[in-house]
Amino acid sequence: MTETTEAALSNLSHEERRFPPSEEFAANANVKADIYAEAAKDRPAFWAKQAERLTWSKKWDQVLDWSNPPFAKWFVGGQLNVAYNCLDRHVEAGLGDRVAYYFEGEPGDTRTITYQQLTDMVCQAANTLEELGVKTGDRVAIYMPMIPETIVAMLACARIGAPHTVVFGGFSADALGTRIDDCQAKIVITADGGYRRGAASALKPAVDEALSTRPEVTTVLVVKRTGQDIGWTDGRDLWWHDTVEKASASHKPEAFDSEHPLYVMYTSGTTGKPKGILHTSGGYLLGCSYTQWEVFDLKAETDVYWTAADIGWVTGHSYIVYGPLSNATTSVMYEGTPDTPHKGRWWEIIDKYKVTTLYCAPTTIRTFMKWGKEVPEKYSLDTLKLIGSVGEPINPEAYIWYRDNIGHDKAPVVDTWWQTETGSLMISPLPGVTAGKPGAAMTALPGIAADVVDAAGDSVPNGGGGYLVITEPWPSMLRTIWGDDARYKETYWSKFPGVYFAGDGAKKDEDGDIWLLGRVDDVMNISGHRLSTTEIESALVSNPKVAEAAVVGASDETTGQAVVAFVILRAEAGDGGEHIVKELRDHVAKQIGAIAKPRQIMVVTELPKTRSGKIMRRLLVDVAENRPVGDVTTLADSGVMDAIRTGMETNSGADD
Ligand code: PRX
Repeated sequence: MTETTEAALSNLSHEERRFPPSEEFAANANVKADIYAEAAKDRPAFWAKQAERLTWSKKWDQVLDWSNPPFAKWFVGGQLNVAYNCLDRHVEAGLGDRVAYYFEGEPGDTRTITYQQLTDMVCQAANTLEELGVKTGDRVAIYMPMIPETIVAMLACARIGAPHTVVFGGFSADALGTRIDDCQAKIVITADGGYRRGAASALKPAVDEALSTRPEVTTVLVVKRTGQDIGWTDGRDLWWHDTVEKASASHKPEAFDSEHPLYVMYTSGTTGKPKGILHTSGGYLLGCSYTQWEVFDLKAETDVYWTAADIGWVTGHSYIVYGPLSNATTSVMYEGTPDTPHKGRWWEIIDKYKVTTLYCAPTTIRTFMKWGKEVPEKYSLDTLKLIGSVGEPINPEAYIWYRDNIGHDKAPVVDTWWQTETGSLMISPLPGVTAGKPGAAMTALPGIAADVVDAAGDSVPNGGGGYLVITEPWPSMLRTIWGDDARYKETYWSKFPGVYFAGDGAKKDEDGDIWLLGRVDDVMNISGHRLSTTEIESALVSNPKVAEAAVVGASDETTGQAVVAFVILRAEAGDGGEHIVKELRDHVAKQIGAIAKPRQIMVVTELPKTRSGKIMRRLLVDVAENRPVGDVTTLADSGVMDAIRTGMETNSGADD
């Protein structure tokens, strides 16, 4: 680099820097620039061509049926078995000895599981589920730590056509219970516990509590992970090692319709009730499979791929399980937290397994930034060839830190935008084609049609901002909200008729590249996880001491946003104070889960409302972020904001 270019570069802000792929990367990339035009010419034809990467027991008659929007059918008439596509076909192709997962337990125990072994384990679990009476179409709830049996359980369900619903292990008994109710699961697969932050963290007690009022769940299959003491209900509870591990490892996969339900994943919406996002088989698997190969530039023979997310979220479903396995990838799976037993644990894992591809969330990257670059410097990260980001907008500072200190200025960063609903990546750079811009997710992937529109639904010109929409159906799109077609239509397809509204704000820069600006609805993004303000408000007012509650997401340096709650107490609760703040934070954790615990609870005597009674959250965000309060002309009583500020000084909840 000449001195002048260096000087010019050093004058650029992080946001202005550009990172084109190296010539070598571009030359060897799985997809080249011409792919965009090819896909745009005829999207269904493009997807039909990509669908050849899956093994179909019966070929489809029609690629896309969009005759009854917004209810899409992809690969109509086609049949396949998702588990066969993830396992057996690789073994049949001679890849039985390839490692599917390097599992690293938090305490340091390890397991190496080949495709042959994983296939056998899944067949055993499928046989067990069938012996337990689980039939095609029955729902199975999975509430597990990050261990290989979680993947086995999911694939066993897929193999027998029983849709699974994986409930994140951090959710409470109540949250597990409402999900079991909503999809009427008849069996729960769980573990005694898992390891987190250096200790055994129990799971089974939450299952016991949830099922104490749900006798319709007749079977609980329990993996022994930690060996901790647990309660046991005879006749209902069965050990995995007494059943699955003794079952036959031979199981014939049945072919299911391309639109057969694969799983339901619950995600927060703008009401108190989580939405059960339904994904089906052919289109979903194609979306995960193709994008993992395309965006992560997967070389399955040599790569060691690591999505550092929890399987309880969609990122885990699509990029730990279905995408990687369908492509015969070797993956790393890590059970615990990044700082156990030391802050270099991730980098030690990358060094140890020679990881080539890392995919994680900006909140974790910002945490690593806080810990300092000296931590990763102690390990060899030379094998990394590509690093990805997901879950929230990555701020340019974090992008540059990630690129410099983890990617060593050679591994491209892919900032990938997608959602539980979209099933697979939608907006992202192509690492061999795109010159990455820190903070921009760039352009819609080939075969995906995205736009930014104004309030009237008209496409904004370059340089404009508005709402992110997807204008054409795509294979891995959600098919509906489980049991609630009306809510599906209303939530996603009514704001701008005929197009999918993602709930995100976005802008197009002068080149037409897309920058995500965060949610525009009452949904918060905490550490890359979606939480609904209404859901937490409902949890708060379910405590008899609370008369009214308003929840907002305030910006937070590490977690992106943090939950801040304003509550009005009932007279019998007394004058508030620290004890009530703690009680309410614990109450939210019990109702939803620890991730939903407000960072701060402010006890106030009034909430800012418009004359029509609507809470003005915008003003509360100003207060929570310590900014001067914005326009208050529509506020019914303008003295309220002063009262809130006073309350705030005395009642901020301390962090745990
Ligand atoms: O607001 C967007 C944000 O996360 C939301 C989706 O959350 P969830 O369904 O939990 O899935 C997370 C993992 C796919 C989106 O509506 N989001 C996700 N990725 C990005 C993002 N925001 C900006 N940039 C991203 N790369």
